[in-house]
Amino acid sequence: MIELIDVHKSFGKKQVLRGVNLRIPAGECLVILGRSGAGKSVLLKHIVGLIQPDRGRVIVEGVDINRIPESKLYKIRKNIGFVFQGSALFDSMSVFDNVALPLVEEGLLDESEIRRRVMEVLELVELQEALNLMPSELSGGMRKRVAIARALVAQPKYVLYDEPTTDIDPITSERINDLIIELNTDVGVTSVVVTHDIHSTLRIADRIVLLSGGIIKVDVKREHVWEVDDPEFQEFIKVFKMLKNIE
Ligand SMILES: Nc1ncnc2c1ncn2[C@@H]1O[C@H](COP(=O)(O)OP(=O)(O)OP(=O)(O)O)[C@@H](O)[C@H]1O
Ligand SMILES: [Mg+2]
Repeated sequence: MIELIDVHKSFGKKQVLRGVNLRIPAGECLVILGRSGAGKSVLLKHIVGLIQPDRGRVIVEGVDINRIPESKLYKIRKNIGFVFQGSALFDSMSVFDNVALPLVEEGLLDESEIRRRVMEVLELVELQEALNLMPSELSGGMRKRVAIARALVAQPKYVLYDEPTTDIDPITSERINDLIIELNTDVGVTSVVVTHDIHSTLRIADRIVLLSGGIIKVDVKREHVWEVDDPEFQEFIKVFKMLKNIE
């Protein structure tokens, strides 16, 4: 389980998070909605300790990750895959090497086992043909899928996806949605997905929260989305509500 308790974060005078309280139980697929600049990426980075809160706590499996030595944080991070918004691939490394990196750094597996695992996740994202390409030779959607493969390669218990389907064609997006659902339901991966993509949200989410004004303003189970009367939340789902009514 992941828990954020009263998390505050400012950059200079800009208050981004003003007391975020969020509990993410194991096995859940949680979607975080919010406008650009609302602090969604900042929130995700708190969960892996890439950003420390000014106030409040971030608890992962019972451990306050900001009160432990770096070596212990490293162990906790190994359980968490992170798909960065901009993919964050290493430009000087091939697709294969980018994806293999978490396993190579871990140093526990031999070369053939690493190769097997890398090919397995590349197949999941349908990029097994691209293993020798360099990031500069990839489309945006391919880069994103490489980033997803890299996040999955060490078989994490938690995967945090920062806009996994943004700028991706609807067919590839749907495959990514399927993959997120599959990992969540078949493998039991706890998923936290930041997105603007409402179609994707409605397909994958067990629960949806809206980050606004630095706090969690709406927190709702998937089956109750149509009942939320918050105007900003309604704005997000508006088009889909119309489509639903047409059906
Ligand atoms: N390292 C940083 N230093 C200073 N300001 C930052 C830093 N990271 C984020 N911010 C600021 O925090 C605010 C929230 O940024 P964040 O990237 O979390 O937004 P977001 O909700 O992910 O938006 P988007 O949907 O556009 O990705 C922005 O105003 C941004 O400028
Ligand atoms: Mg962001």
